[in-house]
Amino acid sequence: MKKIKIIGLFSVAVAALTMSGCGGKNNPGHTYMPDMGYSRAYETYAGHDSTVITTNPADRGGKAIFYNAMPVAGTIKRGELFPYTLPNDTTGYRLSAKVENPLKNMSVIMLPEAERLYMINCAICHGEKAAGDGPLATSGKVPGIANLTSPLYAAMADGTMFHSITYGKGFMGSYASQLDRKQRWMVINYVRTLQPAPEAKPADNAASQDSTVKKG
Ligand code: HEC
Repeated sequence: MKKIKIIGLFSVAVAALTMSGCGGKNNPGHTYMPDMGYSRAYETYAGHDSTVITTNPADRGGKAIFYNAMPVAGTIKRGELFPYTLPNDTTGYRLSAKVENPLKNMSVIMLPEAERLYMINCAICHGEKAAGDGPLATSGKVPGIANLTSPLYAAMADGTMFHSITYGKGFMGSYASQLDRKQRWMVINYVRTLQPAPEAKPADNAASQDSTVKKG
């Protein structure tokens, strides 16, 4: 009988302890491990506000965590091309024509990937064949979409295209955050494959019409 009493008392105590944690629907109850209950959010590139812990700069590396996941300024990721330094202004746009395409001799193996990137990022406006007839053009949602197969753009320097894709132009936004530098050059190389071959120079035509030139 005594045993039953003890067990009974014990279970009442346990139940009371357990229930004491439930202080209504909106009360979170006691927090025994606040670090787990309310963790500090570590967003990848969030600047951590160490002043919450210490305001003394001499404590750097001590109490506070000054770590932030941003790469060191000037860092280039492995396999990435050098940064594009021309500014987003009229001078930068003019000078961009002189910028060499570092992927000029891109292997054809990379074309399918370049095409994929073009289809995802550009075809919605410029169209599958770059004729300026993508869904956003034909629906009239975005005005003035460039027909990249026209002579104007066939003659446009790769660097100028890169400049416009990097910073955006008119109703076209910047693609610097969607496509890294290498991918932007790849897309340009893909656009080149959609453009008509350059027209024969007048000199060539003259030669072909010249009856004295041997044909065959
Ligand atoms: C939202 C629609 C839209 C998308 C998406 C878009 N463009 Fe454009 N693009 C435009 C418009 C509009 C223009 C004309 C800009 C102007 O001259 O005002 C343009 C112009 C261009 C030009 C000519 C730039 C110049 O200097 O005159 C190039 C090259 C180009 N786009 C390439 C691309 C590539 C490559 C992509 C994909 C990475 C892309 N565009 C995605 C709308 C778009």
